[in-house]
Amino acid sequence: MTNIPRHIAIIMDGNGRWASKRSLPRIVGHQQGVKAVRTVVKACGAMGVKTLTLFAFSSENKNRSTEEVTLLFKLFLTVLKQEVKKLDKHNVRLKIIGDMTLFPKDVQHMAAEAQAKLTDNDGLTLVIAANYGGQWDIAQAAKQAAQAAIKGEITPDDITIDSFANYLSLANEPAVDLLIRSSGELRISNFLLWDVAYSEFYFTDTLWPDFDEAELNKAIESFNHRDRRFGARKET
Ligand code: IPE
Ligand code: IPE
Ligand code: MG
Repeated sequence: MTNIPRHIAIIMDGNGRWASKRSLPRIVGHQQGVKAVRTVVKACGAMGVKTLTLFAFSSENKNRSTEEVTLLFKLFLTVLKQEVKKLDKHNVRLKIIGDMTLFPKDVQHMAAEAQAKLTDNDGLTLVIAANYGGQWDIAQAAKQAAQAAIKGEITPDDITIDSFANYLSLANEPAVDLLIRSSGELRISNFLLWDVAYSEFYFTDTLWPDFDEAELNKAIESFNHRDRRFGARKET
């Protein structure tokens, strides 16, 4: 029987290379990437994954050309507008993590509206990481803990691994079981750091726009062959 990961996180990489291979502008690769997102969201919902976290825009991606960043913001807005109804129909809850203050006001509004509309759904939780960095997440959590201490709500001794995790963006979500990265790069690029302490990693050369249900199944199949020991050993 297949063991379905409760939480899958994906670094959706390779849109630009997909486009350049076809002599197309990078943004066409991002548009094609949205199709892969739809496929993966649908497949994860259908197989009973609890949480799917997608890396859409890293804290460092703002250092790309103004043209690419602006087009990415626009694409984000268009997709949010288009997909909310469908996500609702499929009982998907939406959570956007990251420093959204970088995003244009209309995108911020739409993001807040979409999350509010889908908040009561209890099927798949879709987490979109936008202007997100694992280092940023840990720093913002530390800031919250420091503020709570100044207010006298906690003392430094109250800070434990479990209590600190409550300040992180993925508090209340199950631990990441499987982390997937497409496009052949073998790095984390400042995605989830704290949360991947015991995740299984799966890398594929497939570029994100070509990532489909068969690719997802391959990753889950690989996950099913992992021996997750979490540092402990069975008594022999
Ligand atoms: C991933 O594709 C999407 C974003 C980072 C927004 P890239 O745009 O990084 O594609 P490559 O890595 O240049 O091929
Ligand atoms: C990571 O990919 C970010 C996303 C997929 C959203 P990048 O393409 O930005 O990462 P690097 O630059 O190759 O490390
Ligand atoms: Mg890339």
